[in-house]
Amino acid sequence: MAKDHLVRQLLESAAQRGIDYRESSPERRVAPSAAAVSDVGRFIEPMPECPTADLAVLEQLDEVGTPATVTMTGPRYFGFVIGGSLPVTVASNWLATAWDQNVGMHEVTPATATLERVAMNWMIDLFGLPEEASAAFVTGATIANFASLAAARNRVYRDAGWNVEADGLYGAPPISIMVGEEVHPTVIKGLGLLGFGRERVVRLKVDGQGRIDPTRMPKVEGPTIVCTQAGNVNTGAFDPVQDICDAVKPAGAWVHVDGAFGLWAAASPDRAHLCNGFQAADSWATDAHKWLNVPYDSGIAFVRDGAALKAAMSISAEYLLTDSEFRNPSDYTPELSRRARGVDVWAALKSLGKSGVAEMIDRCCSNARRFAAGLEAAGYHVLNDVVLNQVLVSFGEDAQTRRIIDAIQADGTCWCGVTVWQGQTAMRISVCNWSTTQDDVDQSLDAILSIAKSEVINEGE
Ligand SMILES: Cc1ncc(COP(=O)(O)O)c(C=O)c1O
Repeated sequence: MAKDHLVRQLLESAAQRGIDYRESSPERRVAPSAAAVSDVGRFIEPMPECPTADLAVLEQLDEVGTPATVTMTGPRYFGFVIGGSLPVTVASNWLATAWDQNVGMHEVTPATATLERVAMNWMIDLFGLPEEASAAFVTGATIANFASLAAARNRVYRDAGWNVEADGLYGAPPISIMVGEEVHPTVIKGLGLLGFGRERVVRLKVDGQGRIDPTRMPKVEGPTIVCTQAGNVNTGAFDPVQDICDAVKPAGAWVHVDGAFGLWAAASPDRAHLCNGFQAADSWATDAHKWLNVPYDSGIAFVRDGAALKAAMSISAEYLLTDSEFRNPSDYTPELSRRARGVDVWAALKSLGKSGVAEMIDRCCSNARRFAAGLEAAGYHVLNDVVLNQVLVSFGEDAQTRRIIDAIQADGTCWCGVTVWQGQTAMRISVCNWSTTQDDVDQSLDAILSIAKSEVINEGE
């Protein structure tokens, strides 16, 4: 067993290596070199027969692993919708990992359960959600969508006189599920996991930004769940949730909002109008590991009817402290045992305050507009209305756009991904890292534009 002084040496070494990594992030290549990636093969070996010294384990992790990481936490990673991690959340994460609390039940982890309840209430206030809403701290928006839709399934069936938790879907009355044509695939996955089928959904017509067109929605009759989104993963566009709620809620439908990153717009006075009327919905999914910039994994499901979420998620057993006067986090989450991921959310919110969150959101949005302006000034076509943090740009023919994106990724100055937006290949730039500055945008634009220019010349030769 490790001696106390060795534990200290080990943890200090890990902290030092982590600090070195973070300090070097702004200057690191964003994509790792081919040599570093090939070196990862050194991890592939038969499981050791005998123990390895802890310090040697850490050393190998750092020496082989670190050079092969993609600098996702750095200021010039613009792939997918990723976000970085605020220093205070890395610190809170390290401390909470040292605590190693299983936050399923309040009575055995009072500190972390309380921190999660506080963070939940702060976010309900920040997003302007109904005060009575409850929440679940889950791994990400995929599971936040799933948990929200599980609550929806419970309530919509209950309204139809069916106890889905007890009797499942065998012989249950049919219900309609509606999603926009540009729904995020994780919503479809959640519907599949809940037994609704991935294909058995009505796809609602959308406009050129991916927003559901409420005037082209079918009439809602009978038990129905409508899935909307705040922040399309490509364009950043918002569904007109208020209009959709007005159209379908009188018929008793449940409206869910997938706000994986877009819900954070509600925290910025300058962008809150994008979320006008969203409070009328029934459930909202978001990620903290995207725009709040906390470490993975961290998503949150908010549900107005907390009893429906609890009915879908809670369990009981003689040995569990489920009959408690306190709010047990595991009554609301798919997992029983889990790490106290809400601690990092609390740390981020406490450190930033409302003004800090708003400033972070606004800074990312204005950097996205800076990207769009630079690309348009160079003659390239920005395909979306840059209302938030997402920019889609085409460099011409689809094959040319793909070739330029490959070259940008290999160059290492920044990292942007590829997508196909309504039939057209595009580069997708997502700005959601707390540390991205205007200089990072300008440095990235210089690299992107010079690569785009030279690729076009090379192709023409
Ligand atoms: C709109 C939307 N919904 C859901 C997800 C899934 O989120 P996660 O990967 O955190 O599960 C994403 C991820 O980018 C997203 O953009």
